[in-house]
Amino acid sequence: MRVLVVGGGGREHALVDAISRDQGVKVFCAPGNAGIAAQAELVNLNSDDVLHLLRFVDDSKIDLTVVGPEQPLAVGIVDTFESKGKKIFGPRKLAARLETSKVFAKEFMKRWKIPTAEFRSFTIQQREELLAYLNGAKYPLVLKADGLAAGKGVSIVESAKDAEGELERLFVKKIFGGAGERVVVEDFMAGVEASVFAITDGKDYVVLPPAQDHKRAGDGDTGKNTGGMGAFAPTPFVGESEMAAIKSSVIEKVISATAAEGFPFKGCLYCGMMLTSDGPKVVEFNARFGDPETQAVLQLLDSSLLELLEASASRKVGSYNLKLNSSASVCIIAASKGYPDYHESGKEISGLEMKSDTSKVFHSGTKLSGGKIVTSGGRVIGVTGTDPGGRIKKAAEIAYDRLRGIRYDGMFYRHDIGKKASDLEAMKGQSS
Ligand code: GLY
Repeated sequence: MRVLVVGGGGREHALVDAISRDQGVKVFCAPGNAGIAAQAELVNLNSDDVLHLLRFVDDSKIDLTVVGPEQPLAVGIVDTFESKGKKIFGPRKLAARLETSKVFAKEFMKRWKIPTAEFRSFTIQQREELLAYLNGAKYPLVLKADGLAAGKGVSIVESAKDAEGELERLFVKKIFGGAGERVVVEDFMAGVEASVFAITDGKDYVVLPPAQDHKRAGDGDTGKNTGGMGAFAPTPFVGESEMAAIKSSVIEKVISATAAEGFPFKGCLYCGMMLTSDGPKVVEFNARFGDPETQAVLQLLDSSLLELLEASASRKVGSYNLKLNSSASVCIIAASKGYPDYHESGKEISGLEMKSDTSKVFHSGTKLSGGKIVTSGGRVIGVTGTDPGGRIKKAAEIAYDRLRGIRYDGMFYRHDIGKKASDLEAMKGQSS
């Protein structure tokens, strides 16, 4: 079987790694990165260059295309490929609006009574009305740019003054271009976050082990919002009752409601959840696997990822037999100096060569330059540690040990990935 993975970050590296576990698979990746090059043949095409990707799929007799990031979904890669009879994993453009428009997603949730925070939405033309609303509002509040912003379009604001500063960035400086010309203003939800991936064909679904991301740049959840600085799975904060609620009040409703509205969702429905004292509520949807959660979650899968992705693309998820192992896995992201505001690049990375059964290095922003592997992105690598004994603390130790052997100028990472889960393990006496 010949598979094309579209994208070039850590999530795509983890997808390539897991797909390659099947016998007899030849994997291509467009555009990939320096780490993916060791496991797949790289194709020099951008992930949203739909027409050239389609030509590559035709010329290279690709059996299945797997879309990693959101941009190609937003421009309709799945619609184009399916209209030409190609098998592709991911949702069509209309279904991907659950991620590509925060306003659309919130209105959809309201229509279908899917639990989420109360909200209002405003356009750039309604600035005066929005300012009046912000002056009379209770804080903290959450401000979200409507469109795609690489995970950086969300701010928690503590006062009207903070909120006005944020609006200046969105409406005047236009840091996210058109994506920030509409905003959602949402009540702040307190609780523990969880990321739940449902792989669906538009009718049936399977749920992968729940994970937790760490969105802030600094230890103790301080600093700016990022695309994600580390993740662990499974998260012990999602127990059976939380998962039952997420399935019935979120996943199953999205599957039936998107079908009822004429844009059935197939692919990976990423449910970003807040576990509140009122039960699980949706923070956001994404229309794809999460990054870096995927780098942890896929280590817990014993059945074939390729068969699951193909079952979703072929609308046969009902006959897929999901098998999980009882490991715990932690992925720590190492970033470049300046991330998430700007980032350095071109720094040589050393220490990547070590081989290990319990850790893996997934490349996010790397490239080959003059025979060396150098940094080329804000998030550079993700080191995943896995403990077959199922302890998050142990998995984190494995990942941090491996990470300490890797170096580049300006490298930084958080030191507390998985800590909340290992504290809980310690309380329950599971950590040793
Ligand atoms: N980890 C957050 C995301 O993938 O959007």
